[in-house]
Amino acid sequence: MSLIGQPLDALDTPQLLLDLDVIDANLKRMFDAGKQRGVNVRTHFKSLKCGGLAQYIKARGGPTFLSAKLNEAEVLADAGIDDILIANQIVSPLKFQRIANLAKRVTLRLCVDQMDNVDQLSKAMHAAGATLGVLIEIDIGMARCGIPPGEAAIPMAQRIHKSPGLRFDGLQGYDGHLQLIADASERKAKCVQGLEQLVGTRRFIEKAGVPVPIVTGAGTGTWEFVAGFPGVTEIQPGSFILMDCIYNAVRPEFGCALSILSTVLSVRPKWYNLDAGSKAISKDFGSPIIKGKPEEKATRFSEEHTKVECDPVPVKIGDHREVIPAHCCATMNLHRQCLGVRRGKVETVWPIEASGRYD
Ligand SMILES: Cc1ncc(COP(=O)(O)O)c(C=O)c1O
Repeated sequence: MSLIGQPLDALDTPQLLLDLDVIDANLKRMFDAGKQRGVNVRTHFKSLKCGGLAQYIKARGGPTFLSAKLNEAEVLADAGIDDILIANQIVSPLKFQRIANLAKRVTLRLCVDQMDNVDQLSKAMHAAGATLGVLIEIDIGMARCGIPPGEAAIPMAQRIHKSPGLRFDGLQGYDGHLQLIADASERKAKCVQGLEQLVGTRRFIEKAGVPVPIVTGAGTGTWEFVAGFPGVTEIQPGSFILMDCIYNAVRPEFGCALSILSTVLSVRPKWYNLDAGSKAISKDFGSPIIKGKPEEKATRFSEEHTKVECDPVPVKIGDHREVIPAHCCATMNLHRQCLGVRRGKVETVWPIEASGRYD
C-alpha cells in the first residue's frame, strides 16, 4: 500500500518523519540571509544523506552541497547535484579512481592538508584526464584536520596551483569546536578570532600571487557570524535544515523538522515505553525530547525502547508520540527511508541512500 496521502495516525512505527513546511521555512531563512549578505550557502549533505532531499533543496534555491565522504558525494551526483565539495581529506589511493570518475561528471572539490597527498592526487587526476578543485583546510582551532593558519599555507597553495590535474580553489576553515557554545557573545567572539586567521591566510596567499576564489566555513551554530565577514565567500551549514533538540536550544530560529514517530508499547503508573530506541534515535549528543510534551521526559534507552517518565501518564497503549532526537545527522544515518509530511499527511517517501555508509 502506498504511504503517500496517509495521515500520521495510520502509519506503522517507528518511522522517520520530515516536516516539509518546517524545512521550507528553515531553507528560506538561511538562503534569504545568504543573498542579503552576499555569500553562497553550501548545504552539508552529511546531515541529510538523502538524494531526494538534496533535489528538494536545489529546487528551493540551494544548488551547491558539501559532503564529509566520497560515497555522499556520489549519491549527490546521482541525484543531479553538480557542484560538490568533499570537505575532508581523502588519502587512500584506492579511492582516487572514484574521485577522478566523479570529477569528470560534476564540479568536484576536495580538501587537503599534506603535500604528499597533493602530489598523489595530481598524478592520479592527470593520468585519468580529470580536473579536481582543491581547497587547503586551515585549522582555526578545532584541532581535527588542517594546517595552521598563516604563511605556512603559501607553499602548499603554490604547489596545488601548478600541479597538473588540480585547480587551487581556496581555503576551508571549519569552527566545529564552537557550534554548541550556549553563550552567543562568547561563540561570536571566538568565531571572529578564527575568521581573522582564515582571512589573514587568504591575504598571505594572494600576496604571493595565487588567487583564492573560495573561502568557506561555519556551521549552524556560527553561520550568522561568518556570513558577510569580509573575505569569506561561503558558509557550509547542514543541521539547520532538519535540526534537533540540542541545536534548537542554541539556534531557536530554525525549527525541528525531523522526528521519529513511535507507538506507546507499555504503560505504568509513572512512565511509559515507546517502540523506538537507540537503533532509531541517535543519542550520541544526549537525550531526545517528546515533541510538544515538555512534561514527558525520555530517561532511559535500550535498542528498541525509550522509557518516558511523567506523572500522571497521559497516554494509553497504541498512542503515538513524536520524538525529536538530540542529533539529526546521526539519526538520518540510522534509517533507510524518510517520509516527507505536510500538515499531518505523507507527501513523499525518500530513500536515505548514504545512511550506514562510511566509504
Ligand atoms: C567541515 C564541516 N563543515 C560544516 C559543518 C556544519 O554542520 P552543522 O551545520 O551540522 O553544524 C560540519 C559538521 O560537522 C563539518 O564537519
